[in-house]
Amino acid sequence: MRNKPIGIFDSGIGGTSIFKEIHELLPNESCIYLADSKNAPYGNRSEEEIIQLSIKNTEYLLNQGCKIIVVACNTATTNAIIYLRKNYDIPFIGIEPAIKPAALKTQTKVVGILATKGTLSSQLFHKTIDLYSKDIKIIEQVGEGIVPLIESGQLDSEAMQMYLETYLEPMLKQDIDYLVLGCTHYPYLIPMLTKMLPAHVKIIDSGRAVAKQTQAVLSQLDVLSNSIENPRIQLFSNGDVSVLKSILDDKFDVSYLDF
Ligand code: DGL
Repeated sequence: MRNKPIGIFDSGIGGTSIFKEIHELLPNESCIYLADSKNAPYGNRSEEEIIQLSIKNTEYLLNQGCKIIVVACNTATTNAIIYLRKNYDIPFIGIEPAIKPAALKTQTKVVGILATKGTLSSQLFHKTIDLYSKDIKIIEQVGEGIVPLIESGQLDSEAMQMYLETYLEPMLKQDIDYLVLGCTHYPYLIPMLTKMLPAHVKIIDSGRAVAKQTQAVLSQLDVLSNSIENPRIQLFSNGDVSVLKSILDDKFDVSYLDF
C-alpha cells in the first residue's frame, strides 16, 4: 500500500497548483493527476452533475490502485466530497475556500472571496460562512469566465485583466484586506492579482494546507511512501494536453487520456 500513488483530480488544469504543493512536500510519493478539462468548468454545473463527474474520476483513480484521493477542486469538494466519503472506502482530502484564517486575521473586518458559482452556492460553503461571518463582512464574487480562459491557455490576457478588474472593484471599494482564492485555478492569477491589489490586501489560498493535510493523513494511516526509487509522476488530460504541459513548464510526463 505504501508505494501506491496518490490520486488527484480537478475539473481541469487548476488542481496542478495543489499537485505542485504535494510533490514539493512529499517528493517520494508517486502521483496520478487527472485533468477533466473536457468537462470544465464544473462551476456552472448542477450538484448532481458534479457528483457524477467526481464518481467517474474517483473510479478511474481507484482502478489505478491509488491509496488516497485528493479532490483538488473547491467545486467538486463542496458539492461531492460528502457523497464520495460515504460511498468509497478510501480516504479523501478536499479543498475549501480558506475563510477561517482570513476571518481571524482581518483588520478592516471585510474579506473578499473569489470562487465558482458551484462553490459559493453549495451547502458546505454556506455552513463555513455561517461559522465565520458573525463579526465580519464577506463579499462573495463568482469568477465567471476565468476558468475557461485558463483552460484555453489565456492566463495572461487582456480579457483576464478585464474580468479581474471588474471582480475586484466592489471588493476594494468596500475595503477588503484579505482576498480568499476559492478555486484551484486561481493561484495561477497571483502574479496578476499582486500587481492589481494595493499592498495591504493579502491573498490567501489553501494549496499548502491541503498538501500538509495529505501528509498528515498518510502518516496517521502509516502509508507514507518508503520507496528510495524515483516516484512515478503521471498527469493525464482529456482536453488540450499542451495547456497542461505549459502550466507545468514541461517538467512532468503529461499524456492525453479519454477518461
Ligand atoms: N479548480 C476548480 C475549483 O477549484 C474549478 C472549477 C470549475 O471547473 O469551474 O473550483
